[in-house]
Amino acid sequence: MAHTPYSQSGRSTPISFRDVVLDVMKNFKHEKESEAHRIFRETAGHKPKGLLPQTVNPAEETVPGIVHPGSTGVIYCSDRAMANGFSYASSHEWANLGQGAPEVGQIPDAPSKPTTFEMPTDSLEYAPTTGVKNLRDAVANLYNVTYRQGKQSQYTYENVCIVPGGRAGLSRVAAVIGDVYCSYQVPDYTAYDQVLSSFRRLVPVPTALEAEAKYQLDIEQTRKDIRNQGLEVILASNPRNPTGQVIKGDDLKELVATTREAATTLILDEFYSWYIYPEDESEFGKSVSSAEYVEDVNKDSVVIVDGLTKNWRLPGWRVCWVIGPKNLITALSQSGSFLDGGANHPLQLAAIPLLDPERVKIEKLALQKHFKHKRDHVLKRLERLGLKVDIPPSSTFYIWLNLERLPEPLNNGLTFFEELLKEKTIVIPGIFFDINPAHRRNLFNSPCHHFVRISFGPPLEDLDKGLDAIARVLRKAKKEGMSTFGHSYKKSLDSAIHLEKNV
Ligand SMILES: Cc1ncc(COP(=O)(O)O)c(C=O)c1O
Repeated sequence: MAHTPYSQSGRSTPISFRDVVLDVMKNFKHEKESEAHRIFRETAGHKPKGLLPQTVNPAEETVPGIVHPGSTGVIYCSDRAMANGFSYASSHEWANLGQGAPEVGQIPDAPSKPTTFEMPTDSLEYAPTTGVKNLRDAVANLYNVTYRQGKQSQYTYENVCIVPGGRAGLSRVAAVIGDVYCSYQVPDYTAYDQVLSSFRRLVPVPTALEAEAKYQLDIEQTRKDIRNQGLEVILASNPRNPTGQVIKGDDLKELVATTREAATTLILDEFYSWYIYPEDESEFGKSVSSAEYVEDVNKDSVVIVDGLTKNWRLPGWRVCWVIGPKNLITALSQSGSFLDGGANHPLQLAAIPLLDPERVKIEKLALQKHFKHKRDHVLKRLERLGLKVDIPPSSTFYIWLNLERLPEPLNNGLTFFEELLKEKTIVIPGIFFDINPAHRRNLFNSPCHHFVRISFGPPLEDLDKGLDAIARVLRKAKKEGMSTFGHSYKKSLDSAIHLEKNV
């Protein structure tokens, strides 16, 4: 990308590349000198973790035995937005491109969503912790029709456990992993940090994904890691949040085969399995799942987590599922019986018709066309702003945007995020996808430091509102110089310590 010259001192004339370099050199290099990063550290649970006890402020950790796990990125970002005046009443004035949810309203050519549901007396009872049998049947049937036609081994309801949301599903799974090495990759979905560290038996083993490899999992390396590190479980989102990359076709087949041969359990979080944007129009309507490459549904230890949250665009329903060998499902029934008690009974019944394969076909096609259009629109506008995306998403509804080529301090995700809050726009700073960012002693060293995640989940008008805000920030940088950035941030509403005290 050609470097756009930014003014340093309010001059209106463009400045030279040398001036930019000098300015970069005199700018800060450690998180301690960045106001945006100091605010992050002030929040409960976000102090660097080391030998010192994890205390954040005097009002915290006063409840015996209780520690703050640290908020997930999206919660931190909503709290910061609230400090900047965001509220549910004023949300229409904001562009929430941090949102990890798709738009839920009607989209062109999609079947309409149910607006009412039945509550028969039976549904007032607890549902089984593995879920309503007819819904489990419907999930198994959908996967067989979509991914397993002609295969001898087919899923049945005994391979399906209904769970109250994706995170509940992941927690149920994490709770039944024994004392083993569990591999995950960075960057990946923020909640894996807390999910993996809440269940203390397993030992999380991180692997960094490289931008040069387009954030793809290196299957050969995975094979070596299984052998050398004794990995027994691998967890990944596929398609991957936040990079928007996907392992599919022969690569996915090879990954499944690798774990089969090595007797390693593969947990694939497939929440974005429909959000695939093929260049070739004839490929529209296809989705991606490891279910296609499983040989024996009860012998291959492939665990699939998915649900209504993203693909059906129903995040509020909290109806999701885990698919895997029968013997996993009985373990999940046990962990569900103490963790969450099962998904909402009436909504499980209401979900059954939504899994009809014919309906799903129409919904999937409509979704792919609509979201591809939004993706292309946002990528084009970003490019016009001088923010060309190096590795555009081929799946999900996220753009992993590298800000490195902007002048400091706008080139770090946390400061860029704070500056956009002043313009009523929310994005997610990249460090939250560096799973467990608070553990780092210097957040500036994170491989995700220069990134933000932009969601194109919301409707097009909101996306344009957010892109207009990015344009304003960049215009201001050119016109007024960099001295206007990196400071004067609002204090968090619940922070007991004032910023000055933490300097
Ligand atoms: C990869 C991934 N898995 C799971 C979830 C969570 O799903 P749920 O909201 O149903 O808990 C998300 C939500 O952002 C996600 O991105």
